[in-house]
Amino acid sequence: MNGKTVHIKNYGCQMNKLDTALVSSALCEAGFSPAGSEKEADVVLINTCSVRQHAEERVFSHLGHLKHIKKSRPGLVVGVIGCMAQRLGDKLLEHEAVDIVCGPAQIPQITKLVTETLQEKKETIAVTEKIRQRSSESQTQALERFESAYGIEDKQIPGQAFVRAMRGCNNFCTYCIVPFVRGPETSRAPAAIIEQIKRLAGEGVKLVTLLGQRVNSYKYRSGEKTYCLADLLEMASEVDGIEWLRFVTSYPCEEFFDDILQAMADLPKACNYLHIPAQSGSDKILRAMNRRYSAGEYLGLLGKARAVVPGIAIAGDFMVGFPGETEEDFEGTVELVKKAKYKNCFIFKYSPRPGTAADKEKKDNVPAEVKKTRNIELLDVQNKISAEMNRKFLNKEVRVLVEGPSKKPHLNRGGSENSPQLVGRTATDYIVVFNGPVSLAGEFVKVKITETSALTLFGELI
Ligand code: 5AD
Ligand code: SF4
Repeated sequence: MNGKTVHIKNYGCQMNKLDTALVSSALCEAGFSPAGSEKEADVVLINTCSVRQHAEERVFSHLGHLKHIKKSRPGLVVGVIGCMAQRLGDKLLEHEAVDIVCGPAQIPQITKLVTETLQEKKETIAVTEKIRQRSSESQTQALERFESAYGIEDKQIPGQAFVRAMRGCNNFCTYCIVPFVRGPETSRAPAAIIEQIKRLAGEGVKLVTLLGQRVNSYKYRSGEKTYCLADLLEMASEVDGIEWLRFVTSYPCEEFFDDILQAMADLPKACNYLHIPAQSGSDKILRAMNRRYSAGEYLGLLGKARAVVPGIAIAGDFMVGFPGETEEDFEGTVELVKKAKYKNCFIFKYSPRPGTAADKEKKDNVPAEVKKTRNIELLDVQNKISAEMNRKFLNKEVRVLVEGPSKKPHLNRGGSENSPQLVGRTATDYIVVFNGPVSLAGEFVKVKITETSALTLFGELI
């Protein structure tokens, strides 16, 4: 213990949650202890997301709040890490609240940066100067060492962990900031990934989710052999203690698709779940987004997935209001959502990101009101589909990995002190709410479904 406390706030995707878990355990290892709250912390770190402007606005509003706290506690150290740190670099240091700026590739240096800032009361920054340049061997090794040394369970959900399969992205969808903040695509060595999964299994982890921006493109050459995601799933399946394997996010393309589906069908531990964003149902918009498939080809992939993996649950992402999206284009998206029969979908309003091709070349010409209406309409279409699909679970028994007490008050009906409302998920990622003892967190249970809504299955512990 060094007597200093740290509080980390996470914004953004699962990659960020994983980075937060790594940073948190690195700092604990270095003697910091977790602060009960931001108000009591000596160091506050914000792990940030740049994917939409709204995500960045939330961070700035948080920084505004920290600026006020700093007025009464000038010793407080504030660090911005993650995607915004890489995107904005030293501009962030101009903010009164910010002392440390650390990009996603520099998180192995976090302990050093925090310690220097605490001791020398100086601002520190570490970001990648040329983000699209292949990272140096020493940087990759530092990230690998960091990842395997601190690659521990994300303690927030007992029994579950994320493991990075790939870093970065080479896809260059025209709207997307990720290639500019996370750098070029690289696949991690299978041996390192499996080693980590074995350690996690030893610590009681039962569900591992492999992460990559385009995880189905995982490709690692070693001697004569090229490993793909199907190989990783097979190798990870052999790890004792691991019961479920998931992977996110998939890009709609043929490469390796058949092998991955076959692995899902053949390996009992590989969950029958595919998150495969379409983004739009209009071929014109898909081309403008530099997505390399048509709506028809996309539906063809879903058809194949359902034929090879019976009962597979499919989730999607869509964006409404991309530049030039007409009412007809949007209708194409509605049609695609109706045909795709997703378990659920995430729907976003297009947000121009500085430096991306869409922002440089196209006007953000769909009015905010129209984006909002399309967002609501699409959600409504999907909710009806989800509600109908969920009804099929009525009176069925499902196997659930319990996450812990349900946090959403609107779901809070029933439950008692010894048997509060718990939430968990099926292998196919359906959310299940039921009453039971908190000690079940991290365990598998059987639940009989008694009621369903568009978003949730409700049931009774068997
Ligand atoms: N504006 C709105 N949504 C975006 N996404 C990615 N970039 C943007 C953007 N500029 C969405 C995509 C992606 C998800 C993670 O975020 O739908 O799949
Ligand atoms: Fe994750 Fe992308 Fe947001 Fe970075 S910008 S946190 S990679 S979603």
